[in-house]
Amino acid sequence: MSTSYRPFDTGHLLRIKAPAKINLHLEVLGLRADGFHELAMVMQSIDLADYLEITRNEDGEINLSVDDPNLSTGDDNLIIKAARLIRDNSGVKGLGANIHLCKKIPIGAGLAGGSSDGAATLFGLNSLWGLAFTRKKLISLAAELGSDIPFCLEGGTQLCFGRGEKLESLKACSPFMAVILIKDPSVSVSTPWAYGRCREIRGAHYLESESDFERCRQQLRDENWLKNWSISEPPPLKNDLQKVVAPEISSVQNGLELLSELPGSLGVAMSGSGPSCFALYSSYNKAKDVFDQNRERLSTSGLESWCCSFQPQGVTSES
Ligand code: C5P
Repeated sequence: MSTSYRPFDTGHLLRIKAPAKINLHLEVLGLRADGFHELAMVMQSIDLADYLEITRNEDGEINLSVDDPNLSTGDDNLIIKAARLIRDNSGVKGLGANIHLCKKIPIGAGLAGGSSDGAATLFGLNSLWGLAFTRKKLISLAAELGSDIPFCLEGGTQLCFGRGEKLESLKACSPFMAVILIKDPSVSVSTPWAYGRCREIRGAHYLESESDFERCRQQLRDENWLKNWSISEPPPLKNDLQKVVAPEISSVQNGLELLSELPGSLGVAMSGSGPSCFALYSSYNKAKDVFDQNRERLSTSGLESWCCSFQPQGVTSES
């Protein structure tokens, strides 16, 4: 690995796009020896994104500012953790950065907003500090930071196994697919709480052997996620956490019912540990028509809503 420290222009601003993800499939297989759950998932990047603006500084500090007062700028923020991790791994002294986060992805929503910000930090600082870490090395740093962060780096449509960090790429599911996404702004779900409830309710039925895990992984690989899905042949959306979160959070149950009443969708599901939910459409134009016709209904139900196309990649530089 190169540790060369190239001369830099402190005025240069990098703008990194950090997209949200949804889960087309989230299957909880069992509990691992490290306390995490063994998962089999299909994750998909969507065009709802945070933006990070990063400049170098000479004082060797990592400074974070955010445009959302609900968000911590302290040591618990994944941006700070990611910046320290990549700096420590570089072995280079005196690296500093000023990072500004423009927050658009709702917090605690099951959309991996925080994880995508962490991925964008690794990606951006690797470039800004001229560290030349390989993609493989960035992914291994990402996996140290959090289970969803490798996916957020790579993005597109991926099978995700292990804790979620083991990726098997599928080509873009369909670049034209889209979702109507909703979230109750007054509710956020803690991911550890959702997995804890899952363990309480389903733990006695968890699979235990690696051969059972592998059988489930193979079943997911054998589904043709790249098919041209239609209403008569909808994709097998699944979220095991939905079964434990929806009964406890009424806005998830109500949101799923409301989405099910919208015409023309290929299915509805909760994303990640919730509470955001989506209705899937075969094209952006179809989703946008339904969205425009139902915008008022969604907002009078007290829900934030978005219409988002699928994205073929994870974090990208816009500079
Ligand atoms: O890896 P990450 O920090 O995103 O995980 C947050 C929490 O979610 C973990 O501390 C754990 O409680 C739960 N989790 C889990 N199994 C996974 C991923 C997350 O139990 N595969």
